Amino acid sequence: MTNIIDGKAFAAKLRAEIAEEIKRDGLKPGLTVILVGDDPASHVYVANKDKAANEVGINAKTIKLPADTPEADLLGKIAELNNDSAVHGILVQLPLPKHIDENAVINAIFPDKDVDGFHVINAGRAATGQDALVPCTPLGCSLMLKDVLGDLSGLNAVVIGRSNIVGKPMANLLLKENCTVTIAHSRTKNLAEVCAQADILVAAVGRPKMVKANWVKDGAVVIDVGINRQDDGKLCGDVDFAEVAPKCKAITPVPGGVGPMTIACLLKNTVTACRRIAN
Ligand code: GUN
Repeated sequence: MTNIIDGKAFAAKLRAEIAEEIKRDGLKPGLTVILVGDDPASHVYVANKDKAANEVGINAKTIKLPADTPEADLLGKIAELNNDSAVHGILVQLPLPKHIDENAVINAIFPDKDVDGFHVINAGRAATGQDALVPCTPLGCSLMLKDVLGDLSGLNAVVIGRSNIVGKPMANLLLKENCTVTIAHSRTKNLAEVCAQADILVAAVGRPKMVKANWVKDGAVVIDVGINRQDDGKLCGDVDFAEVAPKCKAITPVPGGVGPMTIACLLKNTVTACRRIAN
């Protein structure tokens, strides 16, 4: 029978463990989230991050800046937070207004406070097998995969999508777990055949229901990172859940799969950063 991976329950368990760890070890982790502009979705995401962090005992603050904030002012704020010993994690919510260079902003964050794991130093550390802060979404996927499968050694993993936020860091995490990893993308030839070799299939392309039953090997574990809004207003993933699920050993639903793990992993990264900075 297919195991529908309950990301909500998994995330709740992880959040409870983080709360327990903070209390037990008397940690005082601090997280500051910076939000620039008026994007309504970003305001919701940031409020959710702030609430989840404070609930587990992280001292979370949100700095809201107007949409016309000059890049230099944002960089100045980041410099202040880099030098604030009570702040262990800094997150600048993306996307940023067009006049601000996202890479310049991300790379201005002190790498050991970069709880998004987006800084080029963290990407480089992860790519070279060094201790790194790892982007939250792939970290969540990796935790769920290890929970379902235990040892991932020698498994064929296919990641569809090559973004810096999900695809590439996901591939690095799977490589670290000794998987044989293929990164597939929009130009990959015979995509369905490539995916059908996978013991682990991670879909992160942002195309509704793209992955069909004939793309999936019997008994594969499928992780769906996609969150797409359909014409009827309902959410769906990159995987055609109804036709793919019966073939799988385990699969994440959308919503309620990968999504809830992303915030839980932000809390985990903040505690990791707090411990690293304290030592
Ligand atoms: N915008 C959407 N997702 C994310 C995320 O994971 N981190 C940041 N900083 N911005 C986002």
